[in-house]
Amino acid sequence: MQTVYLTGRGDFGEWRDRARALLLAGTRPEAIDWRVRDGEAGLFAASLPAQEASPHGMPAERMPLSVPRAFVELAESVICHRDIRRFALLYRVLWRLQADRSLINTAIDQDMAVLRLMEKSVRRDSHKMKAFLRFKETHPATDGRRRFVAWFEPDHFIVARTAPFFQRRFTDMDWLILTPKGTAAWDGERLDVTDRAARRPDLEDQTDELWRTYFRHIFNPARLKVKAMQAEMPKKYWKNMPEAALIPELIAGAEARIGAMIEAEARQPPVRHERRKSVVTGEMPAPATGLQALAREAAACTRCPLHGAATQTVFGEGPADAALVILGEQPGDTEDLAGRPFVGPAGKVLDAALAKAGMERQSAYLTNAVKHFKYEPRGKRRIHQRPNSGEIAHCRWWLEREIEAIRPRVILAMGATAVEALTGRSDVFASLKGRQVPLGEEAVLVVTVHPSYLLRLPDPEARAREEAGFEAMVALAGRLA
Ligand code: URA
Repeated sequence: MQTVYLTGRGDFGEWRDRARALLLAGTRPEAIDWRVRDGEAGLFAASLPAQEASPHGMPAERMPLSVPRAFVELAESVICHRDIRRFALLYRVLWRLQADRSLINTAIDQDMAVLRLMEKSVRRDSHKMKAFLRFKETHPATDGRRRFVAWFEPDHFIVARTAPFFQRRFTDMDWLILTPKGTAAWDGERLDVTDRAARRPDLEDQTDELWRTYFRHIFNPARLKVKAMQAEMPKKYWKNMPEAALIPELIAGAEARIGAMIEAEARQPPVRHERRKSVVTGEMPAPATGLQALAREAAACTRCPLHGAATQTVFGEGPADAALVILGEQPGDTEDLAGRPFVGPAGKVLDAALAKAGMERQSAYLTNAVKHFKYEPRGKRRIHQRPNSGEIAHCRWWLEREIEAIRPRVILAMGATAVEALTGRSDVFASLKGRQVPLGEEAVLVVTVHPSYLLRLPDPEARAREEAGFEAMVALAGRLA
């Protein structure tokens, strides 16, 4: 019996080199005891049934070493599995493949079936890491760059294979992922992965609150299936997910919200009215999508007193499947008259930044935290007034529906009102400005100043500086989306 020691923490190359040498030496699977360095014995070797004579019946040194590509791909996944039996099982299949290459495609072979199960489990674990890992901001680097840390507890050794996803997704921020099965670090230029076990850090920051708010937005009580939700987001991940604390509360409140949704539906004009009208006018109404129905409903909104003085509701506009939602404060004088968001002076600043970043305005969904123009009449002029927290909270009802319908990858929040509408907090804008805040696999929040703030800055130098920051964040939002 030959004992082979491996580090055994997901390194495919380590196993491949040893397996290759053993295979070339003609070492039979049952003659190898695979162990990892911490002393764990290769249990599978002990339980392997006796193997018949060498399947290729040829001296080892003359044996051609040929491995189907599909096996290499399978082995690269399986090697990340935590079960120590993976080494022996992979070697046995590698051995058998020398005599029968079709084995890799056999559905009924027991060894292959176990390997496929292991592969599936690794893939699922990697998917969960992408979906449920939560970054939190930590102390800045010595050069002032912002840094994020995340703690995750994977089942398998998947850090190395999953880290490139986070590199692509959060390329503009410095981050460190710690797990008991390895670490990954990105500094904007280099991705460093180790198989060292990390200890759980003590993390708590305001990103937690953002997460909870976002989760509230995308939570649709009418689609609530508790069992399915728990299968998709197993409880073991909850302790590291700030929004999970909301789940019991949201489940409890789901019935009331469904009632409110049914109520809201009833207030829309019945579809047959539209059809009758179309017979008279000769035009066919466009089928109402979720957003169109919402806009129609919002047109009659009287949830707060602002509707009284405004000309009309200015609802969001843009594709229902937009990857990017751009969120402002409230319509201005021009928007109030036109009935469309961002068509006045602030809209021009935004348009210029979008054009500079090579983005199409039409590809994003543009909306406001508050849908009615709040102003104070002064002579013939209507002077913009900032919406207060109560008005923002009332109008959040619409914003939540918009986000829920669109499920964007990126939300660009422009100004303090937009951030308050998303987070429920009036005191976090300054600390979030110029930052992107990851919302897991689902979305990223990018925070910048409002374009009308740029128009109000009297100092040309300050304006140029802020403008550059604004344009950079618009471009970043575009790239992420
Ligand atoms: N400012 C906003 O926040 N939104 C608009 O639509 C126009 C100006």
